[in-house]
Amino acid sequence: MVKPYDAIPGPKQLPLIGNAWRFAPLIGQYKINELDKVMWSLKKEYGNIVKVGGLIGHPDLLFVFNGDYIRKVFKQEEVLPHRPSMPSLHYYKQKLRKDFFDGNAGVIGVHGPKWDEFRKQVQHILLPPSAAKVYIEPLDVIASDFLRRMEESLDENQELPGNFLSEIYKWALESVARVSLDTRLGCLEPNLPKDSESQKIIDAINTFFWNVAEVELKMPVWRVYHNNSFKKYIGALEDFRILCSKYIRKTMDNMNQKDFQNVKQENISIVEKILLKTGNPKLAAVLALDLLLVGVDTTSIAAASTIYQLSQNPDKQEKLFKELKGILPNPDSKFNSQTQENVPYLKACIKETLRMYPVIIGNGRSLQSDTIIGGYHIPKGTHVIFPHLVVSNSEEYFSQPEKFLPDRWLKNEDETSDCPFKREKTHPFVTLPFGYGRRSCLGRRFAETELQIFLSKLFRKYKVQYNYGALTYKITPTYVPEQPLKFKLTHRKT
Ligand code: HEM
Repeated sequence: MVKPYDAIPGPKQLPLIGNAWRFAPLIGQYKINELDKVMWSLKKEYGNIVKVGGLIGHPDLLFVFNGDYIRKVFKQEEVLPHRPSMPSLHYYKQKLRKDFFDGNAGVIGVHGPKWDEFRKQVQHILLPPSAAKVYIEPLDVIASDFLRRMEESLDENQELPGNFLSEIYKWALESVARVSLDTRLGCLEPNLPKDSESQKIIDAINTFFWNVAEVELKMPVWRVYHNNSFKKYIGALEDFRILCSKYIRKTMDNMNQKDFQNVKQENISIVEKILLKTGNPKLAAVLALDLLLVGVDTTSIAAASTIYQLSQNPDKQEKLFKELKGILPNPDSKFNSQTQENVPYLKACIKETLRMYPVIIGNGRSLQSDTIIGGYHIPKGTHVIFPHLVVSNSEEYFSQPEKFLPDRWLKNEDETSDCPFKREKTHPFVTLPFGYGRRSCLGRRFAETELQIFLSKLFRKYKVQYNYGALTYKITPTYVPEQPLKFKLTHRKT
């Protein structure tokens, strides 16, 4: 017997203002940057399926804390999966700057046939496992430049500066720009001036992300009144679009002088590949903007969290060092495609970090038709949220979820491992840091390759410690460490 939608447990709505007050400043009990805690408390209080209704100007949110429910929604995914995110970005692309994005709106904040048409034209260039392999060499050069910069910034205690996270952003931006545009932005130059274009792009990305949570998750007042957060958010998008467009145009202009028959694959950027394939400069430019917009903070935070986890687990770091020493003979050895095939433990460390600290703490889909989840009838239009942070840290799905145990991912590959959980079968829908299905992350190959190269080189060369206790995280809306990342680096002897 299917139970009605109204029977789903969840916080009570107040008359007229529903549940929106819970996110209101001062009176609300739910703080936007503490959504992780909100999700944990919803599960604790109401169980595996929770409805938060009455959010003014926003469809109901249905939190599902169960791998089978998540599988059900993903598996029946319609032809046009709708990720309920960023209506304000949709507004920016399709109304405010319609002149620029018309006909080619990209994939971020875009839905329906427009998203489908765009994605079909670009995904075959971005998704194959080989897509990022061709860029290993230039990405290795960028990682080496970054390590040099890190080394130069160490203080007398061999510790990195308090603003190290923003330094990681520079590495990630430099990497994604190299891949997308075949351009070195110069983010890793010593003493990057505050008013340099690279710094301005980084600032724009930061301002965008700092304000997106305010704009998207609180009452959407911006629909009637453009408040401060909204103005900053749009200002950042405009700065970002204008600055990046300059580099994109330069890449396109230089194409005329390139003899593509005789150019190495690593020197053909994604923008160029798209242009050669489609002949559509607007499509190539909008894709590059989307990649630069979401390809920086995500990879940076994944790198920061993995370094932190390994700093807190010296035995795991030692095991990783042994693996790296076997494949990179000296501390400055180059990472190549063969290295990439031979670092299973490093890959397991990244996977385990993203299980414990998924950069995107929750994903979601807006249901395009009525469905049944957990025995309840769920109407079309409901926003189903997959709270990955909670699900992938639940004892229901992982033994000792609070422990950093990369070995649990090696299964039978590593016979020497004494991890008691390595034969434990993992539910395939409880840790999906890059999403799933037709709308999954388009940059996954690049993110993984960038992380593997940088982390291999870092942990081959240095022992890394963090002496300031446990890090805490906040939602911005990515899941970001709050404290200064003053990692201590000590040279390995060989
Ligand atoms: C560790 C780093 C990263 C993580 C954890 C991550 C995670 C995600 C997630 C969870 C989604 C939503 C997928 C879904 O709805 O099923 C997504 C979408 C996306 N990501 Fe990533 N991402 C990362 C890095 C990158 C990078 C480096 C790029 C670009 C170079 C990128 C480009 C995109 C794009 C374009 C989409 C939208 C796809 C669409 O809606 O069709 N991501 N990412």
